Amino acid sequence: MNIGLLNGPNLNLLGTREPAIYGTTTLADIESQLARIAVSLGVTITAAQANGEGQLIDILHGWRGSVDGVVVNAGAYTHTSLALRDAFAATELPFVEIHLSNIYSREPERRHSLLASAAVGLVCGLGAEGYEFALRGLVRSLRAGSA
Ligand code: DQA
Repeated sequence: MNIGLLNGPNLNLLGTREPAIYGTTTLADIESQLARIAVSLGVTITAAQANGEGQLIDILHGWRGSVDGVVVNAGAYTHTSLALRDAFAATELPFVEIHLSNIYSREPERRHSLLASAAVGLVCGLGAEGYEFALRGLVRSLRAGSA
């Protein structure tokens, strides 16, 4: 089983980006931590990050046939991008949505996700560790046939 790890805009700056909100763990740390957990779960990880909406959609299109499910932090596109949700629907890639911060306790414009209604599950507010929970939940759901 191969799991895609997709991070959206500004998440390449994790570690130094608004650390009071997003913590000090870098994206490289998250990717290597997830790769380690993947080994223990018997799955592989394909990681990608892009700042552009179209780039993220192109990555999903390219993952058809090589990825079984996706852990995604779409950053601000979470709140705006119907096109990204359409890309998940078009590629039929099951996904778990993750956010480092609790988007439901932040500004009103962050309290709605356009992706969530199509997600297998959603993890938010638990910082970088949330990626681990998202991965474990996605793999379990895929193995159970419920994703
Ligand atoms: C985020 C929350 C979004 O609202 C924000 O635009 C991000 C990061 C998070 O991980 O908490 O870029 O997805």
